[in-house]
Amino acid sequence: MNRTTLVLLKTLTWIACLAPVAWLVYGAVTNSLGPDPTAAITFATGLTTLRLLTLSLAITPLRQLFPRLSWLIKFRRLLGLFAFFYATLHLMTWVALYTAFDVNAMNSDIVKRRFITVGVLAWLLLFPLTATSTNWAIRKLGGKRWNRLHKLVYFAAVCSIVHYWWQVKTGVLTPLPMTVVLTVLLAARPVLAVWKRRRVAVAAA
Ligand code: HEM
Repeated sequence: MNRTTLVLLKTLTWIACLAPVAWLVYGAVTNSLGPDPTAAITFATGLTTLRLLTLSLAITPLRQLFPRLSWLIKFRRLLGLFAFFYATLHLMTWVALYTAFDVNAMNSDIVKRRFITVGVLAWLLLFPLTATSTNWAIRKLGGKRWNRLHKLVYFAAVCSIVHYWWQVKTGVLTPLPMTVVLTVLLAARPVLAVWKRRRVAVAAA
């Protein structure tokens, strides 16, 4: 891919990633977030986090299946960082609008409501990944250790989807499509690893 196309695609990715927060700011300023603005903000930030996390997880399997798409790697960090950005907005919505910054209310919510417990766990798992996303951190940790640490993203994805299921009413299936996509992406990794090993073995024979 040439440099101009890459710059264009990166610009479009930035615009797409910033669109949900721009829409929320516009809605807040014009008072058009609907009858329950807190729910609208929670919904938009939670869903955007999950979508960006899913997209960032799709990059490695896509590159393995279609080597011509290897340039996608240049977008993984950006998508991961935006996922954390939206996860933090989502967390701050809960801190500010659900608990009104009351530490006791936060603690009791974390202990009593399991979907909050697992949501906080997902955010905590994403935090070290964001903190070590710089080139400096990669050099400092070394590739192997960095890769091992970044496997936490799978646990964060599982916690996120469990969080989503645990907060919907019994019988509501809205988290299903996202669950199917994430399950395919997580299962693709070991399957593709075996496939790659077999191809190498056949080529060496
Ligand atoms: C990576 C982490 C997270 C992801 C991907 C995520 C995703 C989601 C999604 C998709 C929803 C459903 C939105 C809807 O359909 O209305 C949701 C709801 C919610 N999340 Fe999260 N979440 C995460 C972390 C957290 C954290 C850390 C908290 C707070 C401590 C939290 C608090 C909530 C609350 C209060 C709701 C709304 C529940 C309700 O409507 O009763 N989430 N989240």
